[in-house]
Parts: sequence; structure tokens; C-alpha cells
Amino acid sequence: MGSTRDMELEGRTVLVTGASRGIGLAIASLLAQEPVRLLVGVRSRERYEEPGGGKERRAVEVRPLVLDLSSRESIERAWAEQSEELGRVDVLVNNAGEFAGGRLERIELDQLYAAVQANLTGLMHLTQRMLPGMLERGEGKIVNQASIMGYAHFPGTSVYAATKAGVSAFTECLRRELESTGVTTLELITGGYDTDMLREAGEILSEHADPSDWEWQDPGDWAEKIVDAIKSDKDRLEPGGKSQFARLGAKAPTGLMDAVTKRAFDR
Ligand SMILES: NC(=O)c1ccc[n+]([C@@H]2O[C@H](COP(=O)([O-])OP(=O)(O)OC[C@H]3O[C@@H](n4cnc5c(N)ncnc54)[C@H](OP(=O)(O)O)[C@@H]3O)[C@@H](O)[C@H]2O)c1
Repeated sequence: MGSTRDMELEGRTVLVTGASRGIGLAIASLLAQEPVRLLVGVRSRERYEEPGGGKERRAVEVRPLVLDLSSRESIERAWAEQSEELGRVDVLVNNAGEFAGGRLERIELDQLYAAVQANLTGLMHLTQRMLPGMLERGEGKIVNQASIMGYAHFPGTSVYAATKAGVSAFTECLRRELESTGVTTLELITGGYDTDMLREAGEILSEHADPSDWEWQDPGDWAEKIVDAIKSDKDRLEPGGKSQFARLGAKAPTGLMDAVTKRAFDR
């Protein structure tokens, strides 16, 4: 899949959520080297780190935008205070996310709600706010962080996997709904990347599984693929490495994943 039209980034306004660290910071760092206006989504002002480090910057403007995706009020406040600027967002990278995992009965209820809101409800809310401006201009791109876990359903990840399966469904529905409007989507089926989130998941699940068997790739490599996929207006980025086998396994009869997870997870 993928359209034939490339996306020129020059002069675009781009918002990347969850850009204080990890994959989001890596994406923002690459975009800071493009001639765009870059809004760096952070949960609080103190979490802002200038993307790109010491590298040469081509962005005409780079500034933080405070957004707590787990809070409906925070999204509405940002919208009310900066609707003109947010209404001009051409590329929305919905990257922010939280992990909630381990056995379901042990997950803190606050963490369960926060993960569902940040990963899914907040992502849908923000997208709904940005979309009318894109539709009016007849162009735009919505990039959503899904996950291999939204396809390959491992025990110990029920809440997180459900949010990511939701992101995949949301993105696929939108892709069809937006056909011929000029606004396109990009679903990121992200595999294992060495970030705070994966390390946190490793700690939580180490009682049941061996995190050293997982995939620990460089987030900078994935960020490069993401920026290329935005420029070439792709609608899906498939995982490479070990995760491509998980992707295939997810398409096979359920018995195959049952056998794999039985070996990889000890309740
Ligand atoms: N790493 C992987 O292996 C992997 C695999 C599949 C999918 N993903 C997805 O990729 C995305 C980025 O993850 P990462 O691995 O880079 O994780 P990370 O290093 O833990 O970074 C998560 C980012 O999301 C932000 N965030 C979390 N909750 C938020 C909230 N309520 N409101 C606003 N921002 C919030 C964090 O901000 P603070 O600094 O303020 O906490 C941080 O910037 C996530 O959606 C994740 O689910 C990651």
C-alpha cells in the first residue's frame, strides 16, 4: 500500500507528542533538521529537552507544547489557548504512550486508566481536534504509534496491547474514511526499541519472561524510517527484525501463538 504522492515538508507545521525522550525525541530531533515549524509535545514544561542536541537546525521554529494526553482537560486547555496555531498542524505524530503491564489483577487502577487515556482516548481526542484544519486545507498527515503488541497478543500485556490494537483499528478506519480528502494516515507497527518504556516493561515482566530474549533496537533507526515514511506518504510501516516473525505469527492460526506464549511466559 502507499500513495504515489510525496509530502513536501518545507513550511509545514508538525506536532510530535511524547517528544521528551525515547522514539518521540528521536523523531523530533530529525524533524528539527527539516525546514518545518516544530511543536514538541511534552507532558510538562520541565520535561522539555531541545531536540537535535548540538546538530545543525533547519527548522524555522522549535518550541514546546504542553499536553498531558491522559487528561481531557489538558488537551482542551491547549486547544482553547492555541487553537489558531494548533489548527495549522499539517503533520500530527501521535507518539506519546504509557505501558501498563504484568498480570491484570496486579495493575494499579490509576495506571490502567492513564494508559488507556494516553494511548487511545487522548490520541483520538487530539486527532479529532486537528483534523478539521487539515480537511479544510485538503492535505495533512496523521501518524499513529501502534505496536507489534497490538497484533501479537502476549500474556502480561493485556491492557497495553488492547490500547495498541485500538490505535491500529482507529488508524485503519480513518485511512478509509479519509480517502480522497488529501489527508492521509500512517500506522507505525513498532517492534522492540531500547527506550525507558521497554526497560520498564522488562522490569515488570521479568518475573514471568526473559527480557533478554526480546528485541532491543536503536530508536534512532526507527525514527529515520518514520520520517522517510512521512515524506513518501506511506500509510503503514511494518516492523523488521524479530518482530516481523511475531507479525506473521499473529496472522497464523491461534494455536501457533498459544504454543509460543506458553514457552515464553510463566504465570
Ligand atoms: N519502545 C518500544 O519497544 C515500543 C514498541 C512499540 C510501541 N512503542 C510506542 O512508541 C511510543 C514511544 O514510546 P518510547 O518507547 O519512546 O517510550 P518512552 O521512552 O517511555 O517515552 C514515552 C513518551 O511518551 C510521553 N508520555 C507518556 N505519557 C504521557 C501523557 N500522559 N501525556 C503526554 N506524554 C506522555 C513521555 O513523556 P514523559 O517524559 O513526560 O513521561 C515520553 O515522552 C509509545 O506510544 C509506545 O507505546 C514503543
